Amino acid sequence: TVGNSTNILWHECPVGKLERQKLLSQKGCVIWITGLSGSGKSTLACALSRELHYRGHLTYILDGDNVRHGLNRDLSFNGEDRAENIRRVGEVAKLFADAGLICIASLISPYRKERDACRAMLSDSSFIEVFLNIPLEVCEARDPKGLYKLARAGKIKGFTGVDDPYESPLDCEIVIKQIDGKCPTPKAMAEQIISFLDNNG
Ligand code: PPS
Repeated sequence: TVGNSTNILWHECPVGKLERQKLLSQKGCVIWITGLSGSGKSTLACALSRELHYRGHLTYILDGDNVRHGLNRDLSFNGEDRAENIRRVGEVAKLFADAGLICIASLISPYRKERDACRAMLSDSSFIEVFLNIPLEVCEARDPKGLYKLARAGKIKGFTGVDDPYESPLDCEIVIKQIDGKCPTPKAMAEQIISFLDNNG
């Protein structure tokens, strides 16, 4: 029995992950960007994708907002649905990594347990968790979509950081922070991640 199914068997194909990696000259992996709304996850994902692309790497972004337009359009922002959102994105990211791509997942993913479950789906070195650690006050002051304002006014219930929790990673591969009260540029943040990738094969 697997999940809710019985009598299902895994099917292997002779063209596997290693063959695809050889063809693409890269190792598939998942770069998981977590952080508050307005921390700049999507901007960072785009900058990282661009930098890697120009270096000849095949990438694909799974952005929380975008995935909720399609695959996850049935999910809301209650705890159970956020957990399912993270799980599904984790499963899809795993498939992309298996396909040989550098998959960049950018979603709030506020719960440690679900992020750790995604990590557990992949081999340790192919799950790179990036905490975009921008303080709530800064994200709220930016408020690019006006959602914090609505949340403070009680017009959105269960908004992350306002009346829904965000659990910071305890032990992740990369932490990006402000330096002297200033945020690094998207390019600088992307380069921080790329040096990690270079240094870790
Ligand atoms: S989660 O928590 O990982 O399932 O969230 P995610 O799929 O990344 O979606 C986050 C974007 O949805 C908008 N939004 C909300 N965010 C937080 N809390 C609530 N209640 C909420 N409702 C809508 C918001 O624009 C998030 O976008 P980002 O890009 O993170 O700012």
